[in-house]
Amino acid sequence: MKHILASALFCFCTINVPAIAAEGLVPLPVSVERTAAAPIVFTSGNERQNRLRVSDTDAARRAAAYFSAALKKHFAGKNIHFGKNKIIFASLENPEIICGNAEGYVLEIGDGKIVLSATTYAGYFYAIQTLLQMLPREADGNGEITLTPCKIVDYPRFVWRGFMLDSVRHFQSVEWIKKLIDVLASQKINTLHWHLTDDQGWRIEIKKYPKLTQLAAWREHIGFGLEPDQSEHYDKAGRYGGFYSQDEIREIVRYAASRNITVVPEIELPGHAVAALSVYPEFGCTGGPYKIRLIGGVSDDVYCAGNEAVYTFWEDIFDEVVQLFPGKFVHVGGDECPKIRWKICPKCQAKIRAENLKDEHELQSYVIRRMEKVLSQRGKRLIGWDEILEGGLAPEATVMSWRGAKGGVEAAKMQHDVVMSPNSHCYYDYSQAHSGEPRSFGGFIPLERAYEFNPTEGVPAKFHKHILGGQANLWTEYIPNEKHAEYMLAPRISALAEATWTPQELRSWEDFQNRMVHQYARFGAAGVNYRRPEAVQILVENGTLRFRPDLRNAKVVFTLDGSEPTEKSQSLAPQTRIPVPAGDAAVCVRARAVFPDGSLGRINERFLNLPKAKVISTLNTEAGNVPARAFDGSREAVYWANGGARAGDTVAVVFEQAQTPKHVSCITGKGETGGGGDRLHSGVLEISSDGKTWHPVAKFSRGFAEAELPAGTQVKALRLRVTNPQAEWLLVREFEIRN
Ligand code: ACM
Ligand code: ZN
Repeated sequence: MKHILASALFCFCTINVPAIAAEGLVPLPVSVERTAAAPIVFTSGNERQNRLRVSDTDAARRAAAYFSAALKKHFAGKNIHFGKNKIIFASLENPEIICGNAEGYVLEIGDGKIVLSATTYAGYFYAIQTLLQMLPREADGNGEITLTPCKIVDYPRFVWRGFMLDSVRHFQSVEWIKKLIDVLASQKINTLHWHLTDDQGWRIEIKKYPKLTQLAAWREHIGFGLEPDQSEHYDKAGRYGGFYSQDEIREIVRYAASRNITVVPEIELPGHAVAALSVYPEFGCTGGPYKIRLIGGVSDDVYCAGNEAVYTFWEDIFDEVVQLFPGKFVHVGGDECPKIRWKICPKCQAKIRAENLKDEHELQSYVIRRMEKVLSQRGKRLIGWDEILEGGLAPEATVMSWRGAKGGVEAAKMQHDVVMSPNSHCYYDYSQAHSGEPRSFGGFIPLERAYEFNPTEGVPAKFHKHILGGQANLWTEYIPNEKHAEYMLAPRISALAEATWTPQELRSWEDFQNRMVHQYARFGAAGVNYRRPEAVQILVENGTLRFRPDLRNAKVVFTLDGSEPTEKSQSLAPQTRIPVPAGDAAVCVRARAVFPDGSLGRINERFLNLPKAKVISTLNTEAGNVPARAFDGSREAVYWANGGARAGDTVAVVFEQAQTPKHVSCITGKGETGGGGDRLHSGVLEISSDGKTWHPVAKFSRGFAEAELPAGTQVKALRLRVTNPQAEWLLVREFEIRN
């Protein structure tokens, strides 16, 4: 039986649907009840001391010390005083109220005091995180902070609430990883899976094999087609990369532990190993030479599984790794290991015969089984990606399911523990919107999709006990710096937090969105470059106009004359409509959200009452993305040509009546202002007064072209013409004309 960790899930405590809006708590606690106690009021500006009352346990004392420091940071040096014995770290007398869950807590606010009760440091730590989410950052106009009386009883749904950071494809500083740990801890994530070795670099110091970090931690340039200045991580010789010394790793592990986060290292084998092979070519089947990869994807070159020296190398590495990471699990990768070298390698084939294996898949299984023994002898449990199922699963292995949930379901049915991390919901390197986003790996996981993640989905109930939890992964091929990493993980990490902490029956996307308004402010206060829910859709339905902001219930300001909307412009509540302005003249609606902190989101615009026109393209159409969408007043609805374009291909807007615009433009590509994928790389914008002869007025640059026209210029038609062939598909967001 391998479900010791998951046993806390078997609990029959009652769950109270929160009676109050829970102050924007994320993840939503199991139970929040308003109580009849008197509200608690703290004051600012006097000389009284903050004195905590702390029960006589090591856990409570450590938590109180953490709390004192966290509080200073929270109030950023402001004078806020709780006075003496107003905040109490108590021992929880009735742990059955939290189902005996080691990470559970009770938080009571009212009658002049705040009581945090738990049985472990983890429990106190999470009570503190909840309290910090409830505490304003400053006093009100009377110099006071008032908290609503309530009682919160809370504990997590799963024991594994994970986040994976890929520090190989791009490197992050130790300081930033600590910042990441703070963000994860605030969302009650308790596992940091750290991807430390791969084809593009080796990031962990191994004393016995110094070449791994002297050489294999560095590559000749940033790679992945990125610009050199997108990262700061270069050495004096201009090589890109970096590594974490054993001292730095110990420091990170300690920092994480004090925030109830276990760091799980991943040392990839038998594939994704080109960086190691580049300095120890004798460990590959062909003997090399091997060169550190500068692109993503999967290399055919993997460790030789028939060479005993390779196993010794791995054992030596794990000897050092297990000393650095005190957690139970070590991740060995196991994914994406092509077998083509093994098929023709005499050593690998000899090993297959000697071990009575059927084929190369069983050889992979042999490798994982052997590593499981190696780790078990060192007191650790092996976890690997779902490919470790191929050729037979090692007897005690835990499976991390990434190619959907299928592998995880299969493993759970075989009584193996599982962490669900399906790329349908948990790959945070995928894009968060269809347009206006930075270049990404591909794939699409907006916040709502991330929120839909349920780790037990598709798993028969009797195997739920094997689902340890869920994890989001941040692969960094196209995430070259820390700021960008923050953008990709926040706010989606809150969705993961709620999927792994909150009881499924309490979860609601609408309620989550409402609470996220507060969480966005908290990300902002923590200096996190979170993705702002900036979009405002401008919707036209049955002759009426309304706005749908990404941030639920955000105020929207707008103009109808093409001018820039400011906080002083007219506003419209999300559920309200106004009639579409009548008349023949085109109307330019511009709208943007006003955030709770008063800042303004980015502007979206839409043209109404457009002149009648036809859009004619020489290219084929991808599914329903018809040419007419290139001139429908909206940049959101796009024309998407199916396949590449030849020189001379055109997309033309032909007006029923000639127009006399002062300004014409065309925006292509997925980016909000051109520049994203599927843009026009080389082309011109042309006008025609008769629909037959054409005059170029502008060249496309980064997918965009615009031109001012002399007053009175007759425009019967407007088009883009491709001037160099391109393999990339062409996406036309909108042709726009302004008078
Ligand atoms: C993976 O994404 N290759 C685990
Ligand atoms: Zn081999």
